[in-house]
Amino acid sequence: MPYGAPQLDLPVQLNVNEVPYGPSPAIAEEMARAVFDAATTLNRYPDREFTALRTELAAYLGRETGTAFAPEQIWAANGSNEVMLHLLQAFGGPGRTAVSFAPTYSMYPEYARDTMTTWVEGHRASDFSVETASALALIAEQAPSLVLLPSPNNPTGTALPLEVVSALCDAAPSAVVVIDEAYAEFRRTGTPSALTLLATHRNLVVARTMSKAFGLAGARLGYFAAAREICDAARIVRLPYHLSATTQAVALVALRHAPEMLARVDELRAERDRLVDWLRAGGLRVADSDANFVLFGTFDNRHAIWQALCDRGVLIRETGPDGWLRVSIGTPMEMTAFRKALSEVLDLRAEEEA
Ligand SMILES: Cc1ncc(COP(=O)(O)O)c(C=O)c1O
Repeated sequence: MPYGAPQLDLPVQLNVNEVPYGPSPAIAEEMARAVFDAATTLNRYPDREFTALRTELAAYLGRETGTAFAPEQIWAANGSNEVMLHLLQAFGGPGRTAVSFAPTYSMYPEYARDTMTTWVEGHRASDFSVETASALALIAEQAPSLVLLPSPNNPTGTALPLEVVSALCDAAPSAVVVIDEAYAEFRRTGTPSALTLLATHRNLVVARTMSKAFGLAGARLGYFAAAREICDAARIVRLPYHLSATTQAVALVALRHAPEMLARVDELRAERDRLVDWLRAGGLRVADSDANFVLFGTFDNRHAIWQALCDRGVLIRETGPDGWLRVSIGTPMEMTAFRKALSEVLDLRAEEEA
């Protein structure tokens, strides 16, 4: 099956964990100028090693963590989806196994399928955390070449404690342990990033993206930080000149304005926390979230709830374990529309049941 979150033309779009704010007009103008400059030399292939971009991504991560990263420790591609595919191409393949812990990001088994890597799924606890003992047992049993774990996890929003990450890296020294931090910028205060473990674990990869907190899903730029040898392995499998000159130009402008690009993150985190409280006050089950989305439930017929919300102009995502639904955090107006629509739908349901 191809990836297929419904792209329906509804007024309130809260289904694919985008942020609701695009770049400001001033930044968009600077991007347009950078694209114009790049366009005048599009007869030439782009910088195959995207050196300027790697340098700026390393600087961005360095500012976040307070540790220095070398440009050679950074790899980038067209979205973290492509970055992950590179990792599967480099380290997976026939006769090799990749493991993760369900429920988790729906694309992982597809990267495995595309690279003919055996896919094995362990399970998360009822609060969606990864239990160290059962994770280590699965690793001992499967001897995987790759371990793929988002933190915060999609679709549950669950972040991984660093002790779990360290234990996995130690338990699988010949595997590449990928912590997919696509949503890391939204994590709650006090939740750590696995970036801080890179200095001590040579087999750790921390993937990030500009699609989420940076609000650049349309630009397609994902990246990871890891040991140089891992970046070099990705260089071997990438197609030549995979990052276009225009993509590089746009990403560089966004990084130059990182604080402004990320200025709405705190507001989105606060909106998320308010939504969690509101859903819980309404008697629903809600997973703790360190991301820009919330998983809530549980419903006997989640499809009926999803459809009833669509009928009211609100598109959310029918994903995750049976009975649960996921909603991305939008503008205050969009969240008001979501709450109004959900209240109506749940009241109607209560009336029908009474
Ligand atoms: C956990 C996770 N990883 C990676 C991605 C891919 O993002 P992109 O390819 O836009 O960087 C997503 C997108 O939803 C995601 O949820």
